[in-house]
Amino acid sequence: SKKLNIGLFGFGVVGQGLYDIIKTKNLNLEIVKIAIKNPEKERSLPKELFTTDRDEILNNPEINTVVELINDTEAAFEIVSRALSSGKNVVSASKKMIATYLDELIELQQIHGTSLLYEGAVCGSIPIIRNLEEYYDNELLHSISGIFNGSSNYILSKGFLEGLDYDSALKQAQDLGFAETDPTMDVGGYDAKFKLIIAAAHAYGVVIDPKEVLNIGIQNLAPNDLQYAREKNLKIKLVPVAKELDDRHVTLFVLPKFVNETEFLYNVEYEYNGVTVQAAFADQQFFFGKGAGGHPTGSAVLSDIAALRYDYQYEYKKAKGVNNLRFTNNVEVNI
Ligand code: HSE
Repeated sequence: SKKLNIGLFGFGVVGQGLYDIIKTKNLNLEIVKIAIKNPEKERSLPKELFTTDRDEILNNPEINTVVELINDTEAAFEIVSRALSSGKNVVSASKKMIATYLDELIELQQIHGTSLLYEGAVCGSIPIIRNLEEYYDNELLHSISGIFNGSSNYILSKGFLEGLDYDSALKQAQDLGFAETDPTMDVGGYDAKFKLIIAAAHAYGVVIDPKEVLNIGIQNLAPNDLQYAREKNLKIKLVPVAKELDDRHVTLFVLPKFVNETEFLYNVEYEYNGVTVQAAFADQQFFFGKGAGGHPTGSAVLSDIAALRYDYQYEYKKAKGVNNLRFTNNVEVNI
């Protein structure tokens, strides 16, 4: 199979996780260059591998694959668009960037015949995007919901199971490399919302503007709320929901929610994520796995890189006109 010459953007938690995994394998691929922001930082790899000049990757005709793992949305969009426009395939894990620019990114791939894969952007190691895109083509999806943000789930678990206070739990989530650079993204429900929007695009063929979707996070939960949950044998989880309202409308929202012990999400703790799919014929299915961290997310990124070898492309329900539901922001809080 064809050799992949990779230009990597970003060498943070996920970039390093990916590098660790690749090192242990004998794959027909090579990381040729790594573009980074800060050249002063100590790195475990030879200096020649790094550059601060993105053109060294984007203008290099030998590099056929770009892996984008940075946390600057606008810069990520520019890098990914330029790569797709110059005939390079791309793997990205930038949730906000993809949720914000998915329409443009779909169009670029169609114009230039290139592919963008981003399994690592949604729920870390859980292969939910490929499943949503492929498995359910002839299914009616009533809803997709779950736990999509490892950091806030980590904070909730630490508080509920171990009595650790919010600030210390958040600090741990940061130290473990789960949290975003700006943790408001995690605890405010934004990160979960971006992932939900990407999942909904693959489930329902509709790309929704993040500004249209309500997200309420866990940062304002009070000790009383936890106390109440405990007394009633419930747990509180940050739950994103995409839900079909009728055969033409879908609604999306992210809210903290009480879950009871009969629900799969009840036992999803710490940095684990879970996705519940409710389908008309398959009925209920549940996907479970680590949603954050260098190795779990790196594994999803590597799976995408490997998929590029066999020319895998998302077919995009949106482009095929499958479902194409209309979004309504009428939130139904009774879920
Ligand atoms: N900050 C994200 C989380 C990382 O906590 O889930 C994985 O996308």
